[in-house]
Amino acid sequence: MKVGKEYYRTIWKDENKPGVINIIDQRWLPHKFIIETLKSVDDVTKAIQEMHVRGAPLIGITAAYGLYISSIEGKKKGFNKKYIFDSAEKIKLTRPTAKNLFWALDEMLSSISGLDNIDEIIHTIRIKAKDMADKDVADCKSIGEHGFKIIEKLVKNKSRGIESYATTMNILTHCNAGWLATVDYGTALAPLYIARERGLKIHVWVDETRPRNQGAKLTAWELTENGIPNTVIVDNAGGHLMQKGMVDLVIVGSDRTTASGDVANKIGTYLKALSAYDNNIPFYAALPSSSIDWEIENGEDIPIEERNPDEVRYVNGLYKNEIVNVLIPPESSPALNYAFDITPARLVTGLITERGICKANKDSIAELFPDKIKK
Ligand code: MRU
Repeated sequence: MKVGKEYYRTIWKDENKPGVINIIDQRWLPHKFIIETLKSVDDVTKAIQEMHVRGAPLIGITAAYGLYISSIEGKKKGFNKKYIFDSAEKIKLTRPTAKNLFWALDEMLSSISGLDNIDEIIHTIRIKAKDMADKDVADCKSIGEHGFKIIEKLVKNKSRGIESYATTMNILTHCNAGWLATVDYGTALAPLYIARERGLKIHVWVDETRPRNQGAKLTAWELTENGIPNTVIVDNAGGHLMQKGMVDLVIVGSDRTTASGDVANKIGTYLKALSAYDNNIPFYAALPSSSIDWEIENGEDIPIEERNPDEVRYVNGLYKNEIVNVLIPPESSPALNYAFDITPARLVTGLITERGICKANKDSIAELFPDKIKK
């Protein structure tokens, strides 16, 4: 995606320095655009845990590149393959909810399972991480194409076929499931980028997404950089806008979706799904299959991350050109910070995946992904 006039992915290997990975440090957006280099497994765990990178698909790819860094580190330290397996265990402890983290690390480890020569391992791991990054981009593009069809159909219905491309579609999204949450294009926002490219008129309601404000900071920024009109709203506004007919469609991402279609996503997603259901507004989750947990059927079994309460107590933003944290409640007030919630499948109109759109139920998901189902 474009930042100013330049094209960026969210993560890329330094071609001149083995074992060095570049990321966009998202903690500073939208006010500062800072590129950070990751040179050690500790850098990688810190970047994921402290959310320099975030969003389920990007967390997965960062973890994959983390094992590439680990393989170089391992060789330098004179260690063997065990070092890489230990690094994977360490990286798995960073964030519990996004399935992509565990999926990516397991994929990486299985790619080297038959290898013992460290140089061969480094080579294989480097290629595998790059392939996974490229596959993430391809999957997001496909999600975009499939999701675009939903938007196009809704536009036609709304305008009853007359001058349909001139009718503005108001789409609400929560958190950031755009290119910043993936390697490129995004999940929930990918259909919007394609809609815009093809001349559909869209406008996005951006939930600010407390406590970390990924909507207000990241989604508003990336949509604006890429020319999509958007308006930031407080997290509590969506229901009211839906009642007033100001929302045509809700699309969110997912950090982990069960094999029967329960969707874990950023805290507050469930409330949007309830409002959408009550107002008869389509509610879709867009996700690559790397976010599907084939072992879990019940959303209640998804581990929900609990983060530092200070993320709730303080708000972070720009003041007199400095990025500052401001305390909101009384100094002594405790806070609770669950990072995700579960939207039950019954509230989800459909899942937009790289293979197409399916209903949020076991049979429909299995029909799209027969190869993933254990016989
Ligand atoms: O805590 P984050 O910022 O990593 O959470 C990301 C989300 O929950 C996003 O909403 C997203 O939908 C999932 S990743 C595309």
